[in-house]
Amino acid sequence: MNTNVHILRGGGTALVFLRSGNAPAALVYWGDDHAGLDNQEQWRLLAGKATPSARLNRNSLQNLAPDLTRGGLSTSVLLAHRDGFGFAQQFVFKQIEEQAYSIAFVYIDEAAGLSLRQNFSWDAANRCLSCSSELVNTGSDVWQIDKFSCPALPMDTNWQESLTLTGRWGREFQQQRQHLSRNAMLIEHREGRSGPQHNPSLVVGTPGFSDNHGEVFGIHLGWSGNYQIRAEHLADCNAYILAGEWFYPGEVRLEKGASIQTPVLYAVRSIQGLNLMSQCFHGHFRDHVLPQWVRSSRPVLSNSWEAVYFDHRKETLLNLIDAAAETGAEQFVLDDGWFKGRRDDKSALGDWTVCPEVYPQGLAPLVGHVLKKGMRFGLWVEPEMVSPDSELASEHPEWVLKVEPYENIQARNQWVLDLSHKDVYEHIRSRLIALLDDYNISYLKWDMNRPLLMPGDGNGRAVAREQVKAVYRLMKDLCDHQPGLEIESCSSGGARIDAGILRYTGRVWSSDNNDPVERVAIQRGLGLFFPPEIMGAHIGPNKAHLTGRQIPLNYRILVALQGQLGFELDLRDVSGDERVKLQLAVKLYQTHRQWIGAAKVWRFERSDVDFCVYVSETKKQALVWALTTGSMARAEAPECKVPGLEESANYQVSSLFPHDHSVWLDYANSYPQWLKQSGKTVCSAAMLANTGLPMPVFPPQTGILLYLEQEQ
Ligand code: DGJ
Repeated sequence: MNTNVHILRGGGTALVFLRSGNAPAALVYWGDDHAGLDNQEQWRLLAGKATPSARLNRNSLQNLAPDLTRGGLSTSVLLAHRDGFGFAQQFVFKQIEEQAYSIAFVYIDEAAGLSLRQNFSWDAANRCLSCSSELVNTGSDVWQIDKFSCPALPMDTNWQESLTLTGRWGREFQQQRQHLSRNAMLIEHREGRSGPQHNPSLVVGTPGFSDNHGEVFGIHLGWSGNYQIRAEHLADCNAYILAGEWFYPGEVRLEKGASIQTPVLYAVRSIQGLNLMSQCFHGHFRDHVLPQWVRSSRPVLSNSWEAVYFDHRKETLLNLIDAAAETGAEQFVLDDGWFKGRRDDKSALGDWTVCPEVYPQGLAPLVGHVLKKGMRFGLWVEPEMVSPDSELASEHPEWVLKVEPYENIQARNQWVLDLSHKDVYEHIRSRLIALLDDYNISYLKWDMNRPLLMPGDGNGRAVAREQVKAVYRLMKDLCDHQPGLEIESCSSGGARIDAGILRYTGRVWSSDNNDPVERVAIQRGLGLFFPPEIMGAHIGPNKAHLTGRQIPLNYRILVALQGQLGFELDLRDVSGDERVKLQLAVKLYQTHRQWIGAAKVWRFERSDVDFCVYVSETKKQALVWALTTGSMARAEAPECKVPGLEESANYQVSSLFPHDHSVWLDYANSYPQWLKQSGKTVCSAAMLANTGLPMPVFPPQTGILLYLEQEQ
């Protein structure tokens, strides 16, 4: 049997694809690039595997497009039929398209009338693989597609531990470890958005993998709707990760000549634990997914939500805008409550006309005030939704997603509009465009506050995936209409954060939970896949609204500085001293935000102290956070070891925040010598990486932010 070897290489890594006979290609190597990889003969030997007893007579290589007819019983990338017939297919190699950093394999099943294309592209700079599949109906019958997955990526048999990101409203991105046993592990999400129960991400690796050690393989599915990720170690020693959309019965029909594409699946392999993996995902999403505007200095944002909720009054808001400007905000976002009939969360979604009682002259005076204060104006919208109590719902009850004759259950007192319907889409699009045209809006906070429960169109057909595609299209339409428009992805906090929506939205509202004690874990989980500059992180009030916990301002500032800084509190209420501190936080953020947009991130935990390190691309600067949430595991704090610096350089270390160190003396007899001296401490990168800096004795919910600058 003839074998063919194709190598995707770059950045010191090679991925070897092996084709044997007419079977789909297998990914047989992913690791350091060596000249020896080009020796075809060694790969040919691999193709003929031993055949165990009591199995199929013919054993073949685990490939990227398993089908039912070659034994891909649980791992088949396609489950489809023609009105109940033709349930099994066989994909036969037809052609290959190779370019410098990409390979596409095309397979056909002539009998079935299907053509399958699998695309692989390698980002050499960030060592990230993107892959996707396309299926075309080349026959004359309609194909009913029950499942269509991205290429089935092989797992090593040693990868027996998994890490997933789970959560709920107000507690997103919690890391969960599980042993990967011989049962399939399934992450399935059917809310019509990518969270908050699970994020479409999975890490598998050698048992005990940690922040900086162990072999890990991370995948992320760039899709904001229903999905399924399945990881399985099979009895025959093969192991796969299968990821793709999850479809409702009857949702996808492929007419003659029609095609369907999977979302993009991103994959990174690291032999140095999670941090290296995160750095690769961050780099790839920065360079190839996030909108261009994310690379500009991200403005300090002040949001009206927790300051006034629905109690919009013109005078209050003008004062809030003044206070925001005085505190240093650069963008003011008018959150929910600005439109006609919206005095609580029970009504008016979908109408999108400015409330005449609160804003008799429209939003113009308010927007004008924001601009006069030197800030940009942002507006909250929730375009996919409609309140039953709204003009739109009473005029067009048929525009709502539902399944008759069943009760259309409300969530947060709202229904979902059928954006796959062209009239609905056009109506919402024109309303949003009118707002953009009427006011100087730089920024939309795009919310989505309920799961899709019964995403049926007027004919009773499931349209969940069409809905997601319509949302993407609408975002793109608005950005095309107003180049430079910035959109934030919010979904009851962080329920829609994925590389699908991030193509259109370059900032995310990480969570409605602004309690920094809870935020440490949320931001850590979010940071596993997504870079810090997109992470909305706001300084909340003294008493956190979601938890009731009272937290000193220093700690609130410390934690919020890890992301894109903002305010989520009534800035009219803060004392003079507090405002000075907030202004200082703004200055700190502004000084460093530009390089943070390209920084490498390391996170690790030692002795219950949470460390987070951002190192600039040039390695000239670094920020280091040491934070506690509870009390430390030991009497003394662990040393702070700083990775990623220029090995041969010296660094000036200074404490950036908080300024008052005497607070440590309430909890210990003294604090570290180097913090006592005035001015900067100079340390070598080697000392910082290997020995580390002694830290103060941290009581719970405290921490320190250090700044490291390379000596010239
Ligand atoms: C949920 C969001 O997460 C909040 O920030 C806020 O915008 C509310 N929706 C408004 O209804």
